[in-house]
Amino acid sequence: MRVDIVDLIDSHVPLKKTGTNYVARCPFHVEKTPSFSVSRPKQFFHCFGCGVSGNAISFLMDYSHLDFVEAVEDLAAFAGLDVPRESSIGKVGSAKTDLSDLYLLMEQVATFYVEQLRADDGGKKAVAYLKSRGVKSEIASDFMLGYAPREWRALAAKFNQQLLIDAGLLGLSDGGSIYARFRDRIMFPIRDKRARIIGFGGRVLDDTLPKYLNSPETPLFHKSREVYGLYELLKKNPKPQRILMVEGYMDVIALAQFGIDYAVAALGTATSQAHLDLLFRFSSELVFCFDGDKAGKDAAWRAIASVFPALKGARKIRIMLLPQNHDPDSLVRQEGLEKFTSRVQEAQVLSDYFFENFSKDLRLSEMEGRHGLITEAESYLTQLPIGAYRAMMVGELSNLAKLNILDNEAILAYKRQEKKHRIKTGRPSVPSFVIALLLQNPRLIEVVEQKEIDWNLLEFDGIERFRNILQVIADKKPTNYGVLLEAYRGHEDESVVKKLAALDLLTPEDGLEAEFSGALDKLVAQGRGARFDRLLAKEKSVGLVPQEKEELKRLLRMK
Ligand code: UTP
Ligand code: MN
Repeated sequence: MRVDIVDLIDSHVPLKKTGTNYVARCPFHVEKTPSFSVSRPKQFFHCFGCGVSGNAISFLMDYSHLDFVEAVEDLAAFAGLDVPRESSIGKVGSAKTDLSDLYLLMEQVATFYVEQLRADDGGKKAVAYLKSRGVKSEIASDFMLGYAPREWRALAAKFNQQLLIDAGLLGLSDGGSIYARFRDRIMFPIRDKRARIIGFGGRVLDDTLPKYLNSPETPLFHKSREVYGLYELLKKNPKPQRILMVEGYMDVIALAQFGIDYAVAALGTATSQAHLDLLFRFSSELVFCFDGDKAGKDAAWRAIASVFPALKGARKIRIMLLPQNHDPDSLVRQEGLEKFTSRVQEAQVLSDYFFENFSKDLRLSEMEGRHGLITEAESYLTQLPIGAYRAMMVGELSNLAKLNILDNEAILAYKRQEKKHRIKTGRPSVPSFVIALLLQNPRLIEVVEQKEIDWNLLEFDGIERFRNILQVIADKKPTNYGVLLEAYRGHEDESVVKKLAALDLLTPEDGLEAEFSGALDKLVAQGRGARFDRLLAKEKSVGLVPQEKEELKRLLRMK
């Protein structure tokens, strides 16, 4: 599949040609003059204003809010191809299921469940139940609520049995007999953000247990990656100012009915990294809503621990604790839209919640208490991505602990770590320059190969990463940087590699090889020098093992 990144981006954001690059006003931040640049030779985009960069797939992921697989699908569609999607969990039946059949089935089953509300006695009971819970018919139809009849053959009589099994609507018991998963329940279809029904939740009409059943994991449905209500939310408001994360299906429904149309619910699982990635694509502020009781507070604490690594850029989290014995459903009914909204707006920001929670069990008037605060909070704070927010959290920690920032060993350690992560601006070091040139022009690998360098005899900053990049280029033979970047998606070096690739090296196209060759020689000489110095120092202090002695001799000969 060959898609030119210039054509692709141009179809979303009209580009203008300037020199060898194409430019536009950046679609990822607000700006007056264009600093978003797309390179055809590199198959790469980069914004000099906000720093975003990537290849065709990353563009689609960021621009159209897609995950990786969806972006590949869209890219294929752009190229006029069809990518068959393999189902990852084809437990029953054929290993590969054509997912479009399953999506269609889900839609038909949901429609069938809606019809059942009017169909028989069971349906009447279901409608009465929804009424008793105060659900208006308009909301019921917005969320396509339905009713699964008690009769276990109801679905099997109408739809393809194998598809029903694959979709998780029919189950196979250990004895091999088939059963309907949802019987005599109010049905909540769960849609993904592209409106496709991927699963169902079902509630009993009384207080028998289990109260709720959810679809099992199927090729369509991955509980830990989806939330309930996202599609309905986006339909009303594609760019919500904030998203409220609640616990239950009925909470989402009641909130929507009272005008709070920005709530979603986790599907009975803890908040996952995938949930956060999904929701932060649509809004930079998430408000987590928890019960005010002990269990709710524990859940809040678990959620907090999992959100720390995701807090980069403008992302913001608030924690909202409900009054005792209330859930959002009951509270919004009692208080109404206005009061509930101000609760949401006044919810505590994560930093306050975090420090308050830590401090309350510690005696901060005593030094030991303040010391405890530092040691306990530290493991959380180190999870935060490097940046201003983290620095401020560390600053707050030292305030609370009454530590002078300058004297604080812990703070110094953070600073050291930050320095390690930051790639120096201004003139790049020799290793960075060489790596960056190579990343931007993978064909230069030939120059490296010709020199037959013994990397084991060298030492320099980032040598591991450099050798790794060499390996990737040698293996994949990428024709341009965009292809190379794909090999680094999700890799721990991804952001470093991207930054290096975006460095402006001011190297003219002709003379590129000579420049690279010269820099590489310099790198090798420096690297050997550094290794030599270290071995020499070691010989003087603790002595060398025979192999190191041999190495030292070889390095001496090369000098
Ligand atoms: P709750 O019991 O708090 O749900 O469970 P709720 O929405 O307030 O239920 P109502 O008001 O009694 O109808 C919260 C969520 O936990 C999951 C469901 O996703 C539910 O919405 N859950 C709960 C289950 O998956 N299974 C259960 O048996 C109970
Ligand atoms: Mn409830």
